[in-house]
Amino acid sequence: MSENIKDKLEKIDKEHFSLLIDIGKVAKEENLKAYLVGGMVRDILLRFNNLDMDIVVEANASKLATALVNKFPNCELSAKHDRFHTAKVIFTINGKKIPVDLASTREEVYEYPAALPKVNVSDLQKDLYRRDFTINALAVSLLPESFGEIVDLFNGLPDLKNKKIKILHDLSFIDDPTRIIRAVRFGAKLGFEIEAHTKQLLDQAIDSRRFDNLIKKIRGDRVKIEIRYLFNLLNISQVLKDFFQFGIYRMISTKLEPCHTTTLINTSETNSIKQWLIYIAFIIKDLDKETQEETLKNLQLTGEEIKIINNGLSAHKDLSTLILANKEINSVTIYKELKELAMESILITKLLFSSNKILLSLIDDYILNTSHIKLNITGQDLISMGIKEGKTIGRILNKILEVKIERPNMSQEDEILEAKKISTSTTNETEY
Ligand code: CTP
Repeated sequence: MSENIKDKLEKIDKEHFSLLIDIGKVAKEENLKAYLVGGMVRDILLRFNNLDMDIVVEANASKLATALVNKFPNCELSAKHDRFHTAKVIFTINGKKIPVDLASTREEVYEYPAALPKVNVSDLQKDLYRRDFTINALAVSLLPESFGEIVDLFNGLPDLKNKKIKILHDLSFIDDPTRIIRAVRFGAKLGFEIEAHTKQLLDQAIDSRRFDNLIKKIRGDRVKIEIRYLFNLLNISQVLKDFFQFGIYRMISTKLEPCHTTTLINTSETNSIKQWLIYIAFIIKDLDKETQEETLKNLQLTGEEIKIINNGLSAHKDLSTLILANKEINSVTIYKELKELAMESILITKLLFSSNKILLSLIDDYILNTSHIKLNITGQDLISMGIKEGKTIGRILNKILEVKIERPNMSQEDEILEAKKISTSTTNETEY
């Protein structure tokens, strides 16, 4: 008898569970078969939180989507792609929006390697067979009579238990080379090992050189999406190791050189940090400027993302130039270099100075303390002191701030005294 995970589904969340029950019932009424598939099934079995509902329908997703919209007033159709046989509905439950992706069971035909596949409606077996790894090819029945029953046609359950990443057929990486990146991603994320034959095929795919500079050849932003997931993982040290050791970097650019770092930037406590940008900067840091720009563009980064990376790399370069020239670097130098930069840019600079203890502690001090220092006085106070409105005001405030960085305990009176000192010394200068 096949395993049933109704009890595990029940525990994920009340709303999602009752939705799955309802979807199964409506599918039955419409004479369709519906299954939960993909990452959510894998993660429920591993007891990870994942509420991304991907449902396949044998064989008509669009029919189920229409039936759900007609039956439930809190369900709206959000998208429908007849060419791909997919639809998306959104339920609103207790003010919460819950999206559900529906797809007809499909098979994919690749006309040439790495092409976008042609999609034909098929049965469940073919739909599961077109997927990347056995652990991602499990389905759970939603039909009332078999609700929660696992359909495991490719031994995904034993692979899940034995922590193995295994492809379903030998041409999998050739059909879709982004799966090479995904293999490393799931390995690092789940602490799984890439099964021996799969690793052999992965090596062959890389060694064949056919996917060198893939980002130039592949349409859409699929590589960017996979790289973003990969470099966002907490286990970034294994990611970097595999990225270079397996030769995955060649898919980004054959001009990249393997590089390592012993100090890593921990962004686990700050969810909003785009960790992946920090590590993209890290891997491209030794390329010449032109190749850097080209790589970032090929990776389809936005202007804003490119700016964040460039700012981090430039700050590192500027500070390195000062170090080479034996110039003193103190809190004020760091402040001037890093102020107004995005946190990711600052962390890029920090990562690139990972072997320089003095710089590391100055940058940490900037992040923790200096960047928060604020003046008690404003431009208005300077104007009241008789200083003429204009650019000078900003410059004097900046100077006071630089003094305050070295003497953080300055009171308002100290700041006013400093302002007077600076303004009298500067009125005598021809240029300030
Ligand atoms: N899939 C695939 N080949 C790809 C991308 C996806 O076979 N190149 C299939 C897998 O079955 C996968 C499912 O589509 O489980 C959903 O893809 P995606 O959302 O990218 O991955 P998840 O497995 O859901 O993983 P995560 O939760 O980490 O996003």
